[in-house]
Amino acid sequence: MTRVAFVTGGTRGIGKAITARLKASGYKVAAGYAGNEVAAKACAKELGVMIVKGNVSSFTDCAEAVKEVEKELGPIDTLVNNAGITRDAMLHKMTEEQWVEVIQVNMASIFNMTRNVIEGMRERGFGRIVNISSINGQKGQMGQSNYSAAKAGMIGFTKSVAQENAKKGITVNAICPGYIDTEMVAAVPKNVLDSIIAQIPVGRLGRAEEIARCVAFLSSEEAGFITGATLTVNGGQYITG
Ligand code: CAA
Repeated sequence: MTRVAFVTGGTRGIGKAITARLKASGYKVAAGYAGNEVAAKACAKELGVMIVKGNVSSFTDCAEAVKEVEKELGPIDTLVNNAGITRDAMLHKMTEEQWVEVIQVNMASIFNMTRNVIEGMRERGFGRIVNISSINGQKGQMGQSNYSAAKAGMIGFTKSVAQENAKKGITVNAICPGYIDTEMVAAVPKNVLDSIIAQIPVGRLGRAEEIARCVAFLSSEEAGFITGATLTVNGGQYITG
């Protein structure tokens, strides 16, 4: 049976690698995007996937996107909450706008998306939800009080929703990538990034495909006994118990 996956922020960076990997694994995939039409169209053409425009901060946009995807591809079995942004600043310099934007896009979004697919998954008795959190939600990071708070919030959400839906064949897990070779990480000032790379025992940035493999694993039928888990994928930069 062909499964249907929706990957938010699925046309660039880690999200694009997830879209590609799920498509290669035989899923029908819809990739969400917020506004970069050029990247989205290129992704659709390159990978042969559906693209859906919408703002994950908006409950209404998410409801409409889910409807659109389900009409075209069928019921969503796998949701990957990947969309995320940074607005880095030390707290004493952070504006309310930088705080609100990151909390809305990175954390409120997981309610907006998950709420719109969870009832269908419960009715059908199957679902896979993978939330892309971050190493910085686990350990904190200078300049990222907004981002770290949102990413830590995703982990709490994951554990609660996992418990609520375990009996319905739905698993809910979080992945915490470390520093991955994407545009987002490339935007970190070079001297700061060099000092971060020096703290990664594996000695390099991660690759988006390395996160995508984990998503494919957690989304598989065989991973049905893994729920509420946090999978740490950071080259040894932060080792949790
Ligand atoms: N470790 C150690 N010291 C740090 C530091 C760090 N990670 N970040 C900043 N500092 C130090 C600076 O060296 C500086 O020290 P001095 O005053 O002694 O020179 C001091 O803190 C102030 O730093 P800045 O002058 O850079 O302050 P700023 O206000 O201009 O900028 C900042 C601060 C915006 C936080 C900037 O340092 C920055 O962008 N840091 C990167 C934050 C980061 O890691 N973001 C991750 C983005 S990628 C991502 O989020 C994906 C993921 O999930 C991992």
